[in-house]
Amino acid sequence: MGTKILSKKFYNEMIQLEPRYPTKVALLLPALHAAQDEFGWLSPEVMEEIGSYIGIHPAQVREVASFYTMYNLRPVGKYHLKICTNVACCLRGADELVSHCEKKLGIQCGETTKDKKFTIMEEECLGACGTAPAMMLNNDYYENLDVVQLDELLENLE
Ligand code: FES
Repeated sequence: MGTKILSKKFYNEMIQLEPRYPTKVALLLPALHAAQDEFGWLSPEVMEEIGSYIGIHPAQVREVASFYTMYNLRPVGKYHLKICTNVACCLRGADELVSHCEKKLGIQCGETTKDKKFTIMEEECLGACGTAPAMMLNNDYYENLDVVQLDELLENLE
């Protein structure tokens, strides 16, 4: 394999994690997580490099990555908004949050703004049904969210 895309920091993290896992293959999820933290998404090249590090075929890496909605297989904006639209959240106004975001940012769910700042996506369930409606902004959770709070949040993002 040619030049490495993943950083030294990524490889150092993997070396530190490895003794805690029964096999190198078990490092796949943390590796995907660390790579996504580094690039914001998992490109085919990144998945190939992870596969070669761990010793599995890139297709297997992709299969696992596409199973979990937390992994982005396409580039996303600097701020990635994932709004849960499953039942509990819908009953508490998630649809309103989605349409408000779409209107405010001028994009539809699944799209990224032209300046690459925001991506909006609908999510299945963020596991925060008791404090619905819930949203994730990058790796942070926001719960019991309403349009006013969402507006404030968006306005505070540079
Ligand atoms: Fe929205 Fe579970 S239904 S967090």
